[in-house]
Formats: sequence, structure tokens, C-alpha cells
Amino acid sequence: MRVLHTSFECYPLAKVGGLGDVVGSLPKYLNQLGCTADVVIPYHDTNHNKEQHHKTIFSGIVHLGNVNYNFSVKILQSTELLGFQVFLVDIPKLLHRSNVYGYSDDTERFVSFQLAILEWLLSYDQKPDIIHCHDHHTGLLPFLVSQAYKYKELSNIPTVLTIHNAQYQGQFSYEKLNYLPEFDIQHIGLLDWDKCINPLAAGIKCAWKVNTVSPGYMKELQNQANGLEGLLAHENNKCVGILNGIDHSIWNPETDPMVIKNYTIDTLISGRAANKEWICTRFNLDVKKPLFAFIGRMVYEKGADLLPDIARIALEHNDINILILGSGNPEVETQLLQLKDFFHGRYNTFIGYDEKLSHIIYAGADFLLMPSRVEPCGLNQMYALRYGLIPIVRKIGGLKDTIIDIKDGGFGICHENATIQEVCDAITRGVALYADQKYYKEIQKKIMKIDNSWNTSAKKYLEEYEFLNQLK
Ligand code: ADP
Ligand code: GLC
Repeated sequence: MRVLHTSFECYPLAKVGGLGDVVGSLPKYLNQLGCTADVVIPYHDTNHNKEQHHKTIFSGIVHLGNVNYNFSVKILQSTELLGFQVFLVDIPKLLHRSNVYGYSDDTERFVSFQLAILEWLLSYDQKPDIIHCHDHHTGLLPFLVSQAYKYKELSNIPTVLTIHNAQYQGQFSYEKLNYLPEFDIQHIGLLDWDKCINPLAAGIKCAWKVNTVSPGYMKELQNQANGLEGLLAHENNKCVGILNGIDHSIWNPETDPMVIKNYTIDTLISGRAANKEWICTRFNLDVKKPLFAFIGRMVYEKGADLLPDIARIALEHNDINILILGSGNPEVETQLLQLKDFFHGRYNTFIGYDEKLSHIIYAGADFLLMPSRVEPCGLNQMYALRYGLIPIVRKIGGLKDTIIDIKDGGFGICHENATIQEVCDAITRGVALYADQKYYKEIQKKIMKIDNSWNTSAKKYLEEYEFLNQLK
């Protein structure tokens, strides 16, 4: 079984958030199950890419309307550490950028990437049995494969679409319809949602299978999907929720090269203390007080706009530290930076993206805050568990599927709503738990034993692939 994952991110080559982690780990676990899972992503202009050796295996041209773009497909030379083969679509004029997203020509970047993949596959002798698309950036592939005359030869390849986040759908106007190769115009409705070309909606309509990254999020999408509720209800029969896993070989406190001191369940107290010590020195925090942390994109879905008030109120009422790592909404960033002046020695924030620092925080903070409004799965809480860091989560989507409250015999602290009050109450519960060090450490040991690796969910994907392969 040969599966080609198509994505804009893949850790460690390109990562903005959890999509990168998933595409950088699921294929590895699929390969361990005997599948041949490969990944194709853009050749982004990142430092990581520049350091790698590549070999060009294909050259071609994509046409976006009247404009032609030369492209090549490169294969990454050393992949032992990754555990899967990576193909890189190099379109110098559109994809050679230092950031993964955020450009005014993102539509052109996404469409050309998908067209280049198909041009290459037409002549590639090891065609995949399944094309697995991730998010709206590759959401047009199921339509193109099934409808475009040019790619008819690929039309019997089943397509799977994974929705990591239905908030982003990649809509663009019909003025750009000429970017797409010719198809039967009577089927134009397959592209449409709300009078736009909507790649996520097109993917949902045309993929053979659609899945979300947790069962809870699949259910929530029926009622709240940024306008796609009706479509998802209509396509319900081919939809399934498969919970994300994490890569236990990368996220392992015993071997993680990014943390200050490695540890196991038996050495967790001294190991975590060394990591906390480093954080408190680096960010001028008080090592004796419990440390509550947030790691993530500062966007509305993550409840990031609530963080300044949460931090202020929680610091006023509790003897704690708070550390925030992330970037996003500039207003939130400014408010979080301003708070530093008011809580010297107990509060800090690092605006930016820092993979190493995130690992140290998982290994050294005492509680992780996730006040998400929307959380299709969430990986942070699973990394937290693996490192013995107690998650405080809003009961939504994948957070609800993975975290059980201590009050219910579980191992985390949950709150119903993403409100300042409820998060502050949950922090107060954390303070009480931390004061009972014996119980707190028992919970830490309990969470480190939980297995959220891809072992279970990779098998579910494989079952879906095998089922679809029989339908061909
Ligand atoms: P999302 O994909 O919605 O951002 P996830 O919980 O699925 O959320 O995954 C987020 C991933 O990105 C995790 O690996 C987390 O550690 C990482 N991450 C988020 N923000 C930062 C940051 N500022 N610095 C380092 N890592 C970050
Ligand atoms: C998205 C979601 C996040 C999920 C990640 C990986 O970015 O916001 O909840 O964990 O994709 O699937």
C-alpha cells in the first residue's frame, strides 16, 4: 500500500503548528505497519531545507491562467531519521519563501503546488494507491483528480481529506477559475460554497473519505464549522473522526536533545526541577512558586485574547508564575508584553516561535493552559502528559477526547467554557493541587504512563486506506 501525504507543512522541514507535527510523524508510524507512506510538501526557503541534500527527479511547467511557472520535484536524500520519503515541489517564483503562509499570493501558491503534484504523478512510475490531502491547501486535489480531463489517468486513485481546522477554508473568487485545468463545467458546483471557490468544501465533496483529527471535533462540526455545517451533515456517511497521535520517539523526556536535563518516570522530580530552574533563571521567575505556561499561536481559536486578563487576575489572586510562549495577534502580543512591568519576577512572555524553548517548557513548567475556543485535536496537551506537565484545558474538541478531570478520576483540570473566570478558577484548582505535593506527583507519574502515540490511530488510517483500495 503506497500512500502519498500532500501537505504544506512537515516537521522538521516546515512547521507552523500541529499540522507539521502530524505530517512529520503519522507517515513514520504507517511505514512501521508495513505501508509505504511518502510525503510531498513545497520546497520552502527555510534554513532546514538549505542544509539538506536533494536530487531533482522531475521538471515541468504549471499554468495558472496565462502565466507559466517552471517547477521541479526534488527528493530528500537522507531520510533515515525521518522514517519516510519526502518529495519537495520547487516552484522558485511562488514557493521559495521564508514563511510557510501569509502572502498575498497564497491562493496561487496553494493551487500551483497541487497542479505540480499532479503533473509529476502523471509521469511517475510509482503512483500512490491513496492520495492523502491535509487541510484546504491541498483540498482541491480530490476535485482535480476526479474531474480534470488532464488528470483522468489518476482518477481511480482514492483520495482522503483530513480536516485539521475547518476555520480556514482557502476561499477564492471565480475570477481565478482559469487557474484550474479544463473540466466538465456542469460539475462546477463541486467547487462552490457560498458563491466562492472553496477548496475545503470541494475537498469534502470530492474526497472518497473525510476525517477530522478527533471524534469530538467531528461531532462539533455538524453544528459549528464556519459555514460548512450543512455540507458536513450531508456528507456525514463518509466522515470519521480519528484522534491524532504523537511521535513518541521525538517527544520523549528520556532522550529529547532539546531539554536541559533528560528524565524518566523514576527521575522526574530532579529532571523536571532542572528544567524549571533553567526557565526561571532565563525568564526571571520564582522557582519556588508553581509555574503556569501557555504555548501556542495567539489567535482567537486558542483563546489567546483572554490571556492578558487571565494572567493579570490569576497573578493578583495567587502566588504563582506565568510564562507565555507564542505569537500572532499583535494587540494580544502588546498587552502580554506590557504585563511584564506589573509582575516582575513572576510573569514573562516570549513572543515568537522557538521549538527548543517549547520542549523545555513541557519539561519544566507545572501546569499548561489551553483555554481554546476551538480545538480540533490539540497536541500540546498530549506532549504535556508525556512530559509530566499537568494540562488545564477547556472541554472542547480533541481536548475533551484526551483529558479527563481529576475530579472524575482522571489526570487533568478541565473547565466548561473559554472564559476568564473559568480559567482563573481552574488555575486556583491547580494551586491547591500543587500544594498537595504527594498527590501532585502521583498525578505526574500517572500522566507520563499514558500512551497517546500514533500506534493506535495509524492502524485506523491504514484500515481506511485498505477499505478504499478495495473500492477502486
Ligand atoms: P495548532 O496546530 O492549532 O497550532 P496543536 O496543539 O495541534 O495546535 O500544535 C501546536 C504545535 O506547535 C505544538 O507542537 C506546539 O508545541 C507548537 N508551538 C505552537 N506555538 C509555538 C511557539 N511559539 N514556539 C514553539 N512551538 C510552538
Ligand atoms: C490544527 C488544529 C489542532 C490540531 C492540529 C493537528 O492546527 O488547530 O487542534 O491538533 O491541526 O491536527
